[in-house]
Amino acid sequence: MTLQIKNIEEHQAASQRAIENPEGFWEEQANTFHWRKKWNKTLQWEFDTPDVKWFVGGKMNITENCLDRHLEIKGNQVALLWEPNEAGAPAKSYTYRELHAEVCKCANALKSMGITKGDRVIFYMPMVPELTIAVLACARIGAVHSVVFAGFSAQALADRTNDAQAKMIICSDYNKRGAKNIPVKQVVDDAIAMGCDSVEHVLVHKNTGGEVNTNAVDTWWHDIVPQQSADCEAEEMDSEDMLFILYTSGSTGKPKGVVHTCGGYMVYTCYSFRNVFQYKDGDIYWCTADIGWITGHSYIVYGPLLAGATTMMFEGVPTYPDAGRFWHICEKHRVNQFYTAPTAIRALMAKGDEWVEKYDLSSLKVLGTVGEPINAEAWHWYDQKVGKGNAPIVDTWWQTETGGIMISNIPGITEAIPCYATLPLPGIQPCLMDKDGNEIEGNDVEGLLCVKFPWPSMIRTTYGDHERCKNVYFSAFANKYFTGDGARRDENGMYRIIGRVDDVINVSGHRIGTAEVENAINQHSNIVESAVVGYPHDIKGQGIYAYVIANYPVADEDAFRLEVRETVTREIGPIAKPDQIQIVSGLPKTRSGKIMRRILRKIASGDASGLGDVSTLLNPEIVEEVKKGALV
Ligand code: WT7
Repeated sequence: MTLQIKNIEEHQAASQRAIENPEGFWEEQANTFHWRKKWNKTLQWEFDTPDVKWFVGGKMNITENCLDRHLEIKGNQVALLWEPNEAGAPAKSYTYRELHAEVCKCANALKSMGITKGDRVIFYMPMVPELTIAVLACARIGAVHSVVFAGFSAQALADRTNDAQAKMIICSDYNKRGAKNIPVKQVVDDAIAMGCDSVEHVLVHKNTGGEVNTNAVDTWWHDIVPQQSADCEAEEMDSEDMLFILYTSGSTGKPKGVVHTCGGYMVYTCYSFRNVFQYKDGDIYWCTADIGWITGHSYIVYGPLLAGATTMMFEGVPTYPDAGRFWHICEKHRVNQFYTAPTAIRALMAKGDEWVEKYDLSSLKVLGTVGEPINAEAWHWYDQKVGKGNAPIVDTWWQTETGGIMISNIPGITEAIPCYATLPLPGIQPCLMDKDGNEIEGNDVEGLLCVKFPWPSMIRTTYGDHERCKNVYFSAFANKYFTGDGARRDENGMYRIIGRVDDVINVSGHRIGTAEVENAINQHSNIVESAVVGYPHDIKGQGIYAYVIANYPVADEDAFRLEVRETVTREIGPIAKPDQIQIVSGLPKTRSGKIMRRILRKIASGDASGLGDVSTLLNPEIVEEVKKGALV
C-alpha cells in the first residue's frame, strides 16, 4: 500500500525526501500499484508548454487497481455502500467482488454498443450506484468519462457533449432529490434536440420508473447490462492515456474540459486519500459530494476504491426529510470519516443544534471540509457539535485541476487550525508570488498561490484546446502552475486560503464564472449589458450579484427579475441563478470601456465606502446611482 504517515516525524521525513528526490518519492508510491508494464521514466516535464508526463511508458488499468487487486483479500468486504434518498428505504451495498462483476457487465454492455478506447461518454445521472459502476466501466475499457452534474441545464449539457464530441450519454429516467423528482431523461432529450450529432447512443437507467419518451438512440440499462458476462478483461492503458474530462468554470464564458490521465491520477488520489483521512481497514468513509464534481471523482470513487476502503454514496440532500439527515446517516452506518462542504455545515448549523444532538456520532474519527474557505464559526460548530472535540477537522484545499488534495493538515498528526488548510502534503511544493512575478519567501506573507514542481495528478490539458491550458495556468508565472487563488502563509508557515483572485465566484463550493452568468443573462431579450460579481453570503459563502441594464423600461421589476433568473436557469442551471439583480442605467467603466468590477464588488458587499477616486471613470456619475440602488 502507498505510504500512510503515522506521526509527525514521518510527515517531516516524507516532506524532506520528496523535496530532495521527488521522482524517487513518487516512484515508491507508484510501486505499490499493479502495473502491467513498469514505466521507464518517472517524470518528464516542462511547465511552459505545458508538457507533464508521469510514469512514462507505464501500462496499467486503474480499475484493476480499484477492484481486481482487492478481490483476493477483500473480495467480501463492502466496497460501495449506498444510502438512498428516502430515509426509510433500505441501503444497498456491493462487496468488492460484486462491484467488480457489475463493472464488468456494464463494460461489456458498453463494448457491445461500440464504445471503444478513447471514446468519450457523458454522464448525466443522480447519485445512484449505477453511476459509479458505469464510470468504472468506462475506465475498464479505456473510454473517457465526463460526468456532468445533473443540475446543469439542457443547454449546458449540450455544450459539454459537443465539446467532448461524446459518442454516448448515460442518464437516468428521473432524479430523486429530497421531495423533488427531476426528469433527467427529458433534459437529455432536450439537449439532443439542440443538436448533439456525435451522440450515437443514450443508455438509460431506470431509477424511478416514471414516464419517459423513447427515441431511436435510446437503450434501457436493464435490457443490455444484466445479461452480460461478469468478466471483462481490462484494457491496457498507457499511464498518460486520458482517464476523464471534467468541465469546470474559468474566467471566460466557456467552461473548460480539465483532462486527467490514468497513472498519475491513480497514484495521487490513493496517496492523498490514505493520508488525509487516515483510513484504516474496516472504517466506513463518507464523502457527501456529488460525482458531478472532482471531489466525487477523487474521493468517492477512485481514491477510496484504490485504497480498498468502504466508500459510501448518498442519493439525497442534507435537509430531507429533515435537517438531521446527515447525522442520522452517520449514526446508522457508523461513519468514521465524514467529508463535506462548508456551505452544508453552515446550512445545517442554521437549523439549530437539536438536529445534530439527536444522534450518536461517536463513530466519527475525522471530519473534512472542502470547496471554499470555512469561516471560524462554522469550523467551531463542526468541531464541537459534530465531532464533540474528538474528531480532528481536515481543511483540504485543492481544485478540479489538481486532481487531489494539495494542502491539508493530517488528522491527529499535524495541527488543525481554524480557517487554515495549513501544510502541503509531502510531495507538494506550493509557493506565493507577487504581481511582478517574484516568489515571496519567508513567513507572515501573502501572495498568489502557485505550485512550482509537478505532482502526479495535475491537469494535463484542457480538452481540445491546449493553448487555453497554457494561458490559464502556466503563463501568469514562468515555470509555475498558477491556481487562481490568493493565500497567506503565517508566521509559522501555515497556509490560509483567501479565495479566488480571478473572475470566478465560489457559490456553495461550486465554481461559477462571472462571464458565464453574464452571457446567460444577456440572452434575455430586454437586457443590453450585465455585470456579475460575488458578494458575501451567510450560507453559500458567496452569492451571485448581477447588475443589469434593460433595453426598454421595465414595468414590473419583480417579474423581470424572475425572467432573468429563469433565463440563467435555462442557459446554465439553477446553481448559477443570481441571488440579487439590480437594474441600473449604466455600469461604471474605465475610459477604455472596461467594467470596474472592483467598484461593483464593493457596492455589492454592502460597503460602498472607500471606493477611491472615481473621477477618472468614463461615467463617474453612474457610481452614485448604483450605490443608491444597492440591494444589500
Ligand atoms: C477552488 C476550486 C477541490 C474540490 C472542490 C472545489 C476553492 C477549494 C478550499 C479550501 C479554501 C478552497 C479554491 C479553489 N477551495 N478548497 N479548503 N479552502 N478554498 O473544486 O470547483 O475546482 O474549485 O475552490 O478557491 O481554487 P473546484
